[in-house]
Amino acid sequence: MIRFTLNGRTVEAQASPNTTLLDYLRQDLALTGTKEGCAEGDCGACTVAMLDTEGANGPVWRAINSCLTLLPMVHGRELVTVEGLADGEGLHPAQAAVVERLASQCGYCTPGVVMSLFEACYRGDLDDEAARDDQMCGNLCRCTGYRPIKEAVAAVGGCRPKDRFAARLAESGGWQAASWERQDERWAAPTEFGPLFDAVERGARVVCGATDLGLLVTQRGQRFADLVSVEGLPGFKDLRVEDDGTAHIGAAVPLTDLEAFASDALPVVARMLRFFGSRQIKHRATLGGNLCNASPIGDMAPVLLALDAEVVLRSRGGERLLPLSEFFLDYRKTALAPGEVLAAVRVPPLANGARTAAFKVSRRREMDISAVALGARVELVDGRVSAVRLGFGGMAATPARATLLEGALVGEPWTEAAVEAVLPLLAQQFSPLSDHRGSAWYRSTVAANLVRAFVEETAEATFRALPQRPLSTVVEPAGGAK
Ligand SMILES: Cc1cc2nc3c(=O)[nH]c(=O)nc-3n(C[C@H](O)[C@H](O)[C@H](O)COP(=O)(O)OP(=O)(O)OC[C@H]3O[C@@H](n4cnc5c(N)ncnc54)[C@H](O)[C@@H]3O)c2cc1C
Ligand code: FES
Ligand code: FES
Repeated sequence: MIRFTLNGRTVEAQASPNTTLLDYLRQDLALTGTKEGCAEGDCGACTVAMLDTEGANGPVWRAINSCLTLLPMVHGRELVTVEGLADGEGLHPAQAAVVERLASQCGYCTPGVVMSLFEACYRGDLDDEAARDDQMCGNLCRCTGYRPIKEAVAAVGGCRPKDRFAARLAESGGWQAASWERQDERWAAPTEFGPLFDAVERGARVVCGATDLGLLVTQRGQRFADLVSVEGLPGFKDLRVEDDGTAHIGAAVPLTDLEAFASDALPVVARMLRFFGSRQIKHRATLGGNLCNASPIGDMAPVLLALDAEVVLRSRGGERLLPLSEFFLDYRKTALAPGEVLAAVRVPPLANGARTAAFKVSRRREMDISAVALGARVELVDGRVSAVRLGFGGMAATPARATLLEGALVGEPWTEAAVEAVLPLLAQQFSPLSDHRGSAWYRSTVAANLVRAFVEETAEATFRALPQRPLSTVVEPAGGAK
């Protein structure tokens, strides 16, 4: 039985583990306020709110895409849909803001817009326009126009009404283990490693946020016979900077929590996350899922390669550490051995004065897949390169470091002329594919230009870009990473 609270009532569901929350709401509960637009996380029409009592910064309401959420993932959770917001005749501030500013026309997107505004009401950090845009960037509206929607979020963002939803934020709670079988389909969300490895060893497919795996269900019609979630495992949501400066990121930390943490601890990671998916996606997406999906155009690998990150791989036999540069073996193939899962990512501290950058080149700035991405880091001694890392996405079958170019740069002055002299090594190492995101020529040209941009921005730079701004480079302050 999958049991959860929805709009203040307990729901007991007997559905298949491959059912999406959206389908269950609309088809089984006839709650058709929540809409289906794309069923792939792009439009936000399906947005609902979920209470997360284990957020890195305490309990939070998270706006999530119900189209990619598998029903058993909400077991033990509390959800609100657009039908549950009003208090009798009294509209919730999120609803009132839309009505008062005429922020709805055909209304198809409106329930999703309202649910993102609902989350915004209870946030304490929507203090600038960039943050408010980010809050709403997962909600497309094709007929109202965004001005009144932007006005609505500016009006209610952070208003923190003292209502029954705010009261729920005082809640503390732990993850509830779950297992559920229906016909030939099994689901488990263990809170201990024994049942995890039982499932993994019998061939269950690991899942975390399902923002990749859910697409196989909604777009390809796949049904998984055996799924095991890593979300509730001890330590998988740990997020900390250790005494020696190493950042430890549990595989199941939602990317929104990582983004908030990284804005101080790892600004270059926050910089890449600013242009990663939408807030709804990042509330469910994880670093573990991003790396294990092993997409050559996944955005987090390039920046983590630049930082010399390591992955912690865990099996019944214990843990092993592997440099991320050795994790991707071939197209969509990782070094995970049978029976192993990714438990955490570890990022060593940056050297004093190291300069880092993250670039994502896509057809539009928000909510798009990279054609090419670059994570870059350089360390200089007396103006010459002592260490350099250039991690690329979109240039090969896997995310990869430009090792030929890196090798040639060490010992050279960090000047445009010196870099230009060895830049052809990039084309010698990489022969990217042509596809609908860009031709091989385009990708090679962009990759070289990104290296040029990195040099240009860091050769003389004394500034430190804010991750929110449309600047790419993060120059670490003297004294190294905080
Ligand atoms: C609308 C939309 C926008 C997106 N935007 C971006 C973007 O801008 N950049 C980008 O890089 N990606 C993007 N993605 C892809 C996706 O959100 C990310 O790759 C995300 O990080 C996946 O995490 P997850 O927890 O949802 O993974 P899941 O879907 O749960 O899993 C992904 C894969 O990893 C495996 N897996 C998951 N966790 C583990 C683990 N701990 N150990 C072993 N195997 C594991 C699963 O078996 C599965 O094969 C987007 C997706 C959508 C739908
Ligand atoms: S239906 Fe479009 S994001 Fe879910
Ligand atoms: S009001 Fe029509 S799509 Fe937004």
